[in-house]
Amino acid sequence: MAPRPSERQRRTASTSTISLFILVICTVFYFAHAWLTWPTRHAARTAAHLQSDSGIEYTTTVSAATLTSPPPPSFPSPPPPSPPPVSREVPQVPTCQPASFKRHVEYDGVVVQAGGDGGVVAQSEVECCERCLDSKACNVWVWNMESGGEGACWLKFSEHPKRPSLRAEGAHVPWASGTLAKGFWDPGAPLPVVNTSLGHVLLRTSEGDIRLRLKEDWHLPSVNTVRRLAAPGLPPGSCRQCEFYRVEYGFLVQGVLRGVLPVNKETGCDPAPQCQPGPRVMQRGDVGWAGGGPGPDFFIYLGKRPADWLKRDHTVWAEVADDDSLALCDRIVSLPSHTPGGPNTMRFLQKRLEIEVVAT
Ligand SMILES: *[C@@H]1O[C@H](CO)[C@@H](O)[C@H](O)[C@H]1NC(C)=O
Repeated sequence: MAPRPSERQRRTASTSTISLFILVICTVFYFAHAWLTWPTRHAARTAAHLQSDSGIEYTTTVSAATLTSPPPPSFPSPPPPSPPPVSREVPQVPTCQPASFKRHVEYDGVVVQAGGDGGVVAQSEVECCERCLDSKACNVWVWNMESGGEGACWLKFSEHPKRPSLRAEGAHVPWASGTLAKGFWDPGAPLPVVNTSLGHVLLRTSEGDIRLRLKEDWHLPSVNTVRRLAAPGLPPGSCRQCEFYRVEYGFLVQGVLRGVLPVNKETGCDPAPQCQPGPRVMQRGDVGWAGGGPGPDFFIYLGKRPADWLKRDHTVWAEVADDDSLALCDRIVSLPSHTPGGPNTMRFLQKRLEIEVVAT
């Protein structure tokens, strides 16, 4: 008569049965998963192969991740992650997704930086897209695929990067294009609330801050436009083209404050067609829209005497608030500059000086 298995033997036997069972289940799940995901992995491999055949180097996170990540151990595979919640307060920073690039397509847009000789060149679509990502004003890029390496990379801006207009399309078009959802304001979205108690803003630059006292009694619509540019919680890059670009010794520093929000459309004259928009003859440190218009180009008057020859032609909406800020304006005027149009023409900064409008 066989001896009855001891308690210990029985326990060991049942443990091995359970282990074997788990091993079988895991093996089945592994192969089932591998079989189910083979088409995806095969497609990624094929795509990577085609791309390298075309001589273009890709550093796509998408295909790299698909190729190298081990199959997840669970079955069935988890549902695709739901898109992150879209919030106006914490907007998503767009990224360069090669799957969204359009080849043999040339998108239209306002040129932010020209491509090609003397302009922007890039080794690949991804690099051109990244140049656009780094440029505050760019949300459309166009790259020349047929230049063999250093392809012209045009950085552009569109009011509607989700629906850019086309310049050309078809097999003969040597351009690849893409867009980045940044630097625009959804026309359906409500405007940020104007903080009517905001009395000062800083024009923040890499050279320092210029503090402005906003003069709402001089021109309220202009002041509110600038207050909106300083609203906290605007998406990154909202002041998409805010920079100083022109300097004239003893006269002015001029720039542009073009944000993603609708620009100011009123001068101190509205609605009269013929009048003087300015509240006073400009004095040193007065800030107004340039060219007698409603902006977004503006200047800070830096002459010692009141600018009586300008009459009251400019809508003036702020004044430089302190001496340090005025001294900084003078320093900006002495940054390297040139007159590309020849002697006695407008003087421009060699390098545009970016501005961020900050509430203070
Ligand atoms: C509005 O501006 C004032 C003055 O700078 C500031 O104290 C206040 O916190 C601002 N309010 C909001 C809602 O940002």
